[in-house]
Amino acid sequence: MFENRLELFPASTSVENGILHVGQANLSELAQVYGTPLYVYDAGEMDLALHQYVSALQKYWPSGKWGITYAGKAYLSSAICQWVAQNSIDLDCTGAGEIGIASRNGLPAKNIKVHGVNKNREDLKAAFDHAGTIIVDNLAELENIARLAGGKQIPQLWLRFQPGSSVDTHSYTQTGHAGSKFGMDADQTRRAITYCKQYGLPLAGIHFHQGSQFRDPEPLGDALCKTLDLVSEAGFGTDWHLSPGGGWGVSYNEKELPNPSIEHYVRFICELAAQECKKRGIALPTLHLEPGRSLVARAGVALYQVNAVKTVAGKNWALIDGGLADNPRHALYNAQYSCLRVNRPFDGVGANTSLAGPFCESGDVLIEAIDMPLLAQGDLVAIPVSGAYQLSMASNYNGARKPAVLSVKDGTVRLVQRRETVEDLIDRDL
Ligand SMILES: Cc1ncc(COP(=O)(O)O)c(C=O)c1O
Repeated sequence: MFENRLELFPASTSVENGILHVGQANLSELAQVYGTPLYVYDAGEMDLALHQYVSALQKYWPSGKWGITYAGKAYLSSAICQWVAQNSIDLDCTGAGEIGIASRNGLPAKNIKVHGVNKNREDLKAAFDHAGTIIVDNLAELENIARLAGGKQIPQLWLRFQPGSSVDTHSYTQTGHAGSKFGMDADQTRRAITYCKQYGLPLAGIHFHQGSQFRDPEPLGDALCKTLDLVSEAGFGTDWHLSPGGGWGVSYNEKELPNPSIEHYVRFICELAAQECKKRGIALPTLHLEPGRSLVARAGVALYQVNAVKTVAGKNWALIDGGLADNPRHALYNAQYSCLRVNRPFDGVGANTSLAGPFCESGDVLIEAIDMPLLAQGDLVAIPVSGAYQLSMASNYNGARKPAVLSVKDGTVRLVQRRETVEDLIDRDL
């Protein structure tokens, strides 16, 4: 009955003997061994998404001068750093914390790019010590960089331009519209370019990022043209970097299927950038894409156990053992998820059910009114497309302990983050 939901899960997902498997691992057994809530990342699915970016760039940006930067804010861990290193891609870090995770995992400076709308001294110091690129958000930051470097070699600088146009996404995930807190408008960007030239700062590129979770690339066109106008005016030379950010979306539920095509997105950017550079007589840049969500969201499956079911005023609730604390996206953006029961996922009479967590907020609902088989206490449910902006935004609200994370591939299961304990909760207390 709910077979179409399988398409939201990693491509490796199957039903064997009535039980959902991901990466050939039995989800019911994983829940028994590691407990719930549990996050399972299919490493093969991440490889697949990355391969789609690589092959599209190879096809549509034939100069070969391109790079992929994984946006660590989507989800970052030591295992993710290892994946970044193994695949020779770069990592976008926001602030000293993420830079620390990257550098302690041995990522070389040339592969670490530092973003952030409001970098403080500690962030800048970490960037000087460990990063190859700083993406400058504003003029005050640029002055701080010049002042704080104190004889240290300044990493190459890219400027974050605010193009003043929007993509189609939730207002909380828009970043490029006029008046957004992110980046510099055209005049400020011109002043930043002049400042870099005046003080001999290593200006090497320009960046914009319009937002996250959009599936129509059209608005990138306007932003790209405005960016190239600035480049043409300033004269960036023949060896320069262009980063039109990330933000490509994914489908979270069956109504949003099919999944937005990565190839379509990359092709749009490449063809337009090549055409518009040519029009302006600008040398083709090294083109950098910065995907986060579209690399890891689909790889992640969140597993929860149903603690209780109840019907109140005609509404069916399944109360599960996680929610707002490990996934704030429904509360923040009204994100619409889907889900399957782990055991006999396609059986049973459909019932309209809402899935809510144990936290003391009425907004702690993961799924509002979805058709499900009748759920019972002890059932396991699997929520697909759980790999991005969930664990990285997780909290300890109500003493929640962040879930364990597994990496699975071809039947091999690896615990990559243990579940937090009560000890962890009081570890910082003095
Ligand atoms: C500067 C920058 N680059 C890349 C991304 C990645 O976006 P997404 O995960 O939607 O691809 C973000 C996230 O909003 C961002 O702020």
